[in-house]
Amino acid sequence: MTSPTLESPRPRAEAARRPPGPPPRAAGALGRLRYGLNFLLDPFGFVGGRFQRYGDVYFVDAEGGAQPGLYVLRHPAHFEEVLVDKARSFDKGHSAFELLSELLGHGLLTTDDEVWRRQRRLVQPAFSKQRLEGYAAQMVAEADAEARRVRAGEPLDVSRAMMEMTLRIVCRTLFGYDSSGDAEPVRRSLAALQSSLTGVALALPLPSFLSPQARRMKRARAELDRIIYGLIDARRPREPHDDLLQRLVDAVDEDGSTLTREEVRDQLVTLFLAGHETTSNALTWTLHLLAEHPEEEARLFAELDEVLGGRLPTAADLPRLVYTDRVFTEAMRLYPPVYVVSRRAREDVQIGGWSIPRGSELALWIWHAHRDPRFWDEPWAFRPDRFAPGADAGRPRLAYAPFGAGARACIGKVFAQMEGVLSLATLSSRWRLRSTGAHVELSPRVTLSPRGGLRLVPERRGGPANE
Ligand code: HEM
Repeated sequence: MTSPTLESPRPRAEAARRPPGPPPRAAGALGRLRYGLNFLLDPFGFVGGRFQRYGDVYFVDAEGGAQPGLYVLRHPAHFEEVLVDKARSFDKGHSAFELLSELLGHGLLTTDDEVWRRQRRLVQPAFSKQRLEGYAAQMVAEADAEARRVRAGEPLDVSRAMMEMTLRIVCRTLFGYDSSGDAEPVRRSLAALQSSLTGVALALPLPSFLSPQARRMKRARAELDRIIYGLIDARRPREPHDDLLQRLVDAVDEDGSTLTREEVRDQLVTLFLAGHETTSNALTWTLHLLAEHPEEEARLFAELDEVLGGRLPTAADLPRLVYTDRVFTEAMRLYPPVYVVSRRAREDVQIGGWSIPRGSELALWIWHAHRDPRFWDEPWAFRPDRFAPGADAGRPRLAYAPFGAGARACIGKVFAQMEGVLSLATLSSRWRLRSTGAHVELSPRVTLSPRGGLRLVPERRGGPANE
């Protein structure tokens, strides 16, 4: 492996310079459209090509210099500077978040400063170690229910099955709610959100009365609100419910005020959306990789048979499901559900020796760090043992960052890892999912999923028949 080094340090006089980058794109809608289409066709290749040409940091001039530009990053040391060391110089006022805020309101993911700090304080207890262990049984129960729905030989729409399973898990664990009746409207509103955030929508925003995407987004929001307000209104203060929703309804701030109905709504929608599609995609990609890699699949099965011997897993099994954990971790390296993280500079700041003026936007390409040959041998290969103890010697910490880093790192990281490992253990104890041989393409939208979904053919391994 090549040693992970930064580009050689620049002399002081150069530090004030702007990094290299493509020629300024044409101002106006046409320039944005051309850029949007190129990006949309193959975002990873498009951005990867520019990194190859310009180095670890490049600059995209927006609107012929009329707007602060975009700085595009891929080096883990630069991620560390932005997300950890100089995190206070950045906020989430990025244009991508403005669109997201339309649906999410002012929840944990999209707010900053004191509003965010107060929210994180209120929500964090729901993710304590003790709570998480309590969620394990519910996660396994939902994964087991999913495994029982599978039929041998009938091609399984894995993307859809994982989406429904993770939706039920997040509803049950965080809101104590059986979502079976509302899964369809939630899925529709998510699909609308996704299509409203495609490259074209970002490249060519239209006034909302002209844009079918904006109209779809509005409908999606109304549908989701109906579900969420229904949940909130069903709760009364200090009822004996032990879940996040009850904690938010009961929360009293230092000045004695409580959260408004809207504030509770924004928090729930954020956790609802952030908390299931990401894990669903991580599991879908994991099952795809296993179907393509029989040796790694056989090792996984051997571990599950040895540790579980056909029974359902519990939280107590987690320390022994070592290879299962590595499989899920490596799948998120190759297919990080959140493949790019965005920030805006709230003041002039230096990153990697480059000057970044206040107001500039930054895109941190997790995908490219995860596949950078300077940090990973044969980065395209699926090798769960990369995450064996000691195997990461010399690798910069944020060469692997599927959950982000710093104060704004994913609040659901341990929840998601546990959900991934327990669900995988439950499903793979019973089923082997075989590839259909169809080519799988990437669909990078808000999160990274297989284009058109993923179909695999189930073959029974063990457990009760699903009759
Ligand atoms: C494999 C699954 C998941 C992945 C890959 C993932 C990834 C991420 C990433 C990269 C961030 C940081 C974004 C940034 O810095 O701008 C983030 C933040 C967040 N995630 Fe996750 N996430 C996952 C699962 C979950 C789950 C299960 C929940 C909740 C149940 C959740 C809730 C959140 C929230 C609320 C934030 C914002 C935290 C803050 O700013 O304080 N995520 N996630």
